[in-house]
Amino acid sequence: MAVNTIIEQYYSAGAGLHDAVKTLRTNIWFSAMDQEIKTIVVTSVNPHEGKSTLAVFLGIAMAESGQHTLLMECDCRRPMLQNYLKMQPDHDLVDVLRRRISAREAVTSTPVERLDLLSSVVLASPVEVLASNRFNGILEEFKQQYDVILLDTPPLGSFIEAAILASRADGTLLVLQSGSTEVAAAQAVVAQLEKAKARVLGCVLNNVNMTSQQYYYADYYKDGRKRKDGGEKGKEKRPPTRKPEK
Ligand SMILES: Nc1ncnc2c1ncn2[C@@H]1O[C@H](COP(=O)(O)OP(=O)(O)O)[C@@H](O)[C@H]1O
Ligand SMILES: [Mg+2]
Repeated sequence: MAVNTIIEQYYSAGAGLHDAVKTLRTNIWFSAMDQEIKTIVVTSVNPHEGKSTLAVFLGIAMAESGQHTLLMECDCRRPMLQNYLKMQPDHDLVDVLRRRISAREAVTSTPVERLDLLSSVVLASPVEVLASNRFNGILEEFKQQYDVILLDTPPLGSFIEAAILASRADGTLLVLQSGSTEVAAAQAVVAQLEKAKARVLGCVLNNVNMTSQQYYYADYYKDGRKRKDGGEKGKEKRPPTRKPEK
């Protein structure tokens, strides 16, 4: 069976997922009453907690609401966005860093209107690159061109990049895996983000069982307010469309 792109997964997932992602999008706008939120870092404590998936889903929802949105691959240790989107862009972040082409030329349109991708290859020194003035300049350039920039990052429990980016971004989302992310580890990551003076917009609790419908993705709550349905953990149906990663 052909493996669908993550975009196809989103559109075939049904209203439950769409509602959850749109609620997240709305809550981000609500949290931004007094300050524009243009650059959003998506991170988590551990690998495989759903950062890249959430970044794409939120990107689709943002683009659908009329926002010109850029998905920026900043997990330069394990860049997955282009694989998930099944795209083979002609250019990537390295081409821009080396000034081979402009930032504008390096992005590729996705099948979703108003949603673009800047991909990356694996970098030998991701921390140095993402902390550099050159990278910062590129981000500033994109800020002139896009309404929203979603930065997908490596897990902050193991690598520092997300904190570096979060210190410059307008907001940060922390993805937590229902039933598996350890509370102490999550608290340590939040402390790290606070040390970086990041603005933590909230947490996305992934892999929550939403029994009444075939919800696939996220539940969102902020400031410790729990979701309403109190769903049971660990019994949700995984989407059949993509093999788990190695
Ligand atoms: N809520 C979910 N339910 C089922 N599978 C999920 C869910 N969120 C993510 N996945 C799957 O888990 C794997 C890791 O997700 P990914 O977004 O790559 O995580 P990360 O970027 O944090 O490493 C992927 O195969 C993805 O399809
Ligand atoms: Mg990822």
